[in-house]
Amino acid sequence: MTTNNPADTPANNSATTPVNTPATPAGDAAATPISQETQAALASTPHAPNSPGATHIRSFVHRRGHITQGQLAALERLMGQWSIPYAPRRLDPAAAFGREAPTVLEIGFGMGETTEKIALARPGDNFLGVEVFNAGVGSLLRRIEDSSIPNLRIIQHDAVEVVRDMIAPDSLAGVHIYFPDPWPKKRHHKRRLVQPPFIALLASRIAPGGYIHCATDWEEYAVQMLEVLGNEPLLKNTADGYAPRPDYRPLTKFETRGLRLGHGVWDLIFKRVA
Ligand SMILES: C[S@@+](CC[C@H](N)C(=O)[O-])C[C@H]1O[C@@H](n2cnc3c(N)ncnc32)[C@H](O)[C@@H]1O
Repeated sequence: MTTNNPADTPANNSATTPVNTPATPAGDAAATPISQETQAALASTPHAPNSPGATHIRSFVHRRGHITQGQLAALERLMGQWSIPYAPRRLDPAAAFGREAPTVLEIGFGMGETTEKIALARPGDNFLGVEVFNAGVGSLLRRIEDSSIPNLRIIQHDAVEVVRDMIAPDSLAGVHIYFPDPWPKKRHHKRRLVQPPFIALLASRIAPGGYIHCATDWEEYAVQMLEVLGNEPLLKNTADGYAPRPDYRPLTKFETRGLRLGHGVWDLIFKRVA
């Protein structure tokens, strides 16, 4: 999947954008969008996907990719309404979502098809989607508006920094990492997200009893995931090895085609221990 440079778009997380209420909130999760006050309070630093001085190897590269007019328009119009600017300080999820509810973090939502389906199917949970890719963020913003999804917020930033700086320890009900870039060449393996230091950080942010759910169609990365998650002392496997795909994770189009061609998909679901 290609990424382009979010800093190049006219969209930013300006706290000055008017805040509207979605037309028909789904389910019983009729949370209000982020208020202007909350946005202003959260927006202590500008949106900074290319923040200089990063001390870790990025799991993504910025490349100019195709973005549709609709996605671009969504970025310009809806970013201030449904996104939370990156800031190097703790996020208050109750303020960000306008309600207290279990919060599930999704890292790298791509075009957001799965994110949309899961957020609609689980109206009692809050979903925080993190993605760096402009077209993907624009696409999910459109879905939030078109499907009136009240329980979803977006942060357009490197998830490593979001988890490190914005997510409080022992706070997440769950983490979803679906089909992360496999970085197949050996010299690029260092860019893979699922590696011991990041998983240790992530595990520390999950509440005891919460879960991390990863899925991949790259067998050798699945093996790495099993090893990394299995060696993290704060996590315990819910299955004996790979887990069956739970009903809440819908099959993607790509996955359906792959399965027809005999390709494998591996799900891993681990729980945070006390
Ligand atoms: C292969 S795509 C998978 C997208 C989606 N989860 C799916 O199943 O279709 C991986 C996505 O992760 C995003 N990504 C990679 N590293 C990231 C990071 N550190 N922070 C946020 N997003 C990241 C990429 O931009 C890309 O959109």
